Amino acid sequence: MKILTVCLGNICRSPTAEAALNEALREAGLDQQVSVDSAGTGDWHLGEPPDERMTRAAAKAGMTLSGRSRQIAVTDFAEFDLILVMDHANHADVTAMAPDAAGRDKVRLFRSFDPDADHEEVPDPYYGGEAGFHAVVELCRAAARGVLAEIQQTLDA
Ligand code: 4NP
Repeated sequence: MKILTVCLGNICRSPTAEAALNEALREAGLDQQVSVDSAGTGDWHLGEPPDERMTRAAAKAGMTLSGRSRQIAVTDFAEFDLILVMDHANHADVTAMAPDAAGRDKVRLFRSFDPDADHEEVPDPYYGGEAGFHAVVELCRAAARGVLAEIQQTLDA
């Protein structure tokens, strides 16, 4: 199974979501069965590593961010089984790119997997303060646990 996390710039939220999913999969011993990648809808940061403020906040929580920013491509809809977007704008942009209904069906709001979420979006931390980056780490961890639970249910079925 292959999962793609998607935000706007692919330097803050989606690399953190990717790391949180990898952490949850590793803890569950499923990291060999499920792989995770991330991408952005925008192209402003192509080739750049994750944002330093985001990397610092993740590191404080024991998570290492990796990868370089890339833009989501139409081929991703065939390659990935699940495309997890961070907010409604991402959802609109990504579903608009989907080549068919099957592709559109793969696109889900990441936080919809968190049963305790009080909001559907992982807020964009880019223009805000440090607290926003720490919030992204915690929201991604909670949503990743929900994604893991759904994967485990599917594997057990
Ligand atoms: P991300 O955050 O979508 O979580 O990676 C952002 C990164 C860059 C910009 C906006 C959001 N930007 O406008 O450059």
